[in-house]
Amino acid sequence: AFMHDIMGMDVLEKQLKEILQLDNIMIVPGNSDEHDWVKQEMGKACVSFLKKHLLPNQTVAVTGGTTMAAVADMMTPFKDKRDCLFVPARGGLGEKEEGQANTIAAKMARQAEGRYRLLYVPDPLSEISYRTMMKEPAVIEVLKLIQGSSFILHGIGDAITMAQRRKTSSDIIQKLREEKAVSEAFGYYFNGEGNIVHKVRTIGLHMDDWNENSQTVITVAGGRSKEKAITSYFKQGKSNLLITDEAAAEAILRDE
Ligand code: F6P
Repeated sequence: AFMHDIMGMDVLEKQLKEILQLDNIMIVPGNSDEHDWVKQEMGKACVSFLKKHLLPNQTVAVTGGTTMAAVADMMTPFKDKRDCLFVPARGGLGEKEEGQANTIAAKMARQAEGRYRLLYVPDPLSEISYRTMMKEPAVIEVLKLIQGSSFILHGIGDAITMAQRRKTSSDIIQKLREEKAVSEAFGYYFNGEGNIVHKVRTIGLHMDDWNENSQTVITVAGGRSKEKAITSYFKQGKSNLLITDEAAAEAILRDE
């Protein structure tokens, strides 16, 4: 709040753009670690961006987590019947039902009065089932929709926090610590340089499939506690828009 009073949000945004090397950043006031309404404000910002840019019949792929759930909560009907389709970006990643990408995609569709398709993938997924599922026509069909999505909405988490929330086995957590994992997004774990150090085996969008020409990636992540995670992700992670909060932005700037 201190820096905000002196500088204003636009100055904060400008400075953060330089540090994270991003063209578009929106910062909402507050700290989402402390107040749920701050997550809802980020959600509102995300929804209004989508409403401005989503064209009829386009597909939106979403990840899971509480921030994406807040985006879904804030979704309202597209008045001009854009008939958009919502799909989960990836299969199960160990989230509770309300935080699963499937649940969030379905809720967004309901609130936007659009359509949805879901991806049913056992979680955790063995190597053998992975290979078998990748041959299922129903899975292939949804995967094509995901790969053809025009918008990808995703969250970022702190690596160890996410691993623990997912009840990840202790040997993997050990590996994450050894590899100095800092952030997580899409089931990928990244170190401080933004290199991938671990991947959760599931079906769905792979980061190397991203098509910069046809896909708009919107990252929504805030809270003082995500400072290092956000910085780590943006060392290499691509995004067309970061929606964050004041507490995360100030912490990142302070640490520079
Ligand atoms: O598990 C899905 C996911 O989107 C992760 O990729 C991300 O790290 C996390 O959720 C963010 O969760 P939250 O918004 O609850 O902090």
